[in-house]
Amino acid sequence: MKRLPIAILGSGRGSNCRAILERIRSGDLPAETRVVISDVLDAPILEIAREFSVANAYLPPGRFRTRLEPEAEEDLVKMLREAGVHLVVLAGFMRVLHAPMLKAFPQRIINIHPSLLPKFPGLEAWKQALEAGETVTGCTVHYVDEKIDHGQIIAQREVVILPDETPETLHARIQIAERQLYLAVIAEFCEKYQ
Ligand code: GAR
Repeated sequence: MKRLPIAILGSGRGSNCRAILERIRSGDLPAETRVVISDVLDAPILEIAREFSVANAYLPPGRFRTRLEPEAEEDLVKMLREAGVHLVVLAGFMRVLHAPMLKAFPQRIINIHPSLLPKFPGLEAWKQALEAGETVTGCTVHYVDEKIDHGQIIAQREVVILPDETPETLHARIQIAERQLYLAVIAEFCEKYQ
């Protein structure tokens, strides 16, 4: 079976990254993580990559807060191409991508977001759902475009909001759903790659 060459990009904790690396290690996901990249030097996601002996790199993002410096984005394209990456998996990567990446990997960059998009893009989406009085929220995997948490939806999973829900309990349950959904979607990409 051919293994899908992927890269995982993240800025933080790396729980989705860990779930992907564990599933690959167990032999249940025919993918190969060529590199894990972060725009945050001390992000736990890079530590997780090292724990799994996966190549990893810090990408200095430049002077902007929500996007990469154009040169940094070109460097990113170069790194991913050199690593032979077919699918770019964003897992808590908190920067918007622009033309260099989107042109280099058309329909090959996916993101996970903790809401039922198009509802509640942006930060702390579970809190937004709770404050809006929703009874159901969830998570979404989508193709990435130039807007924040926007782009063609690939799959969604619902999470019911319980009467005594707190932001913490809701977030925890959404994260469980996220990992299941992301693994299922990546498995579909692996199937198509055969
Ligand atoms: C995840 O919950 C993901 O949905 C969210 O960042 C978290 C990263 O967690 N992404 C967004 O909000 C994108 N707008 P992780 O580092 O533990 O995988």
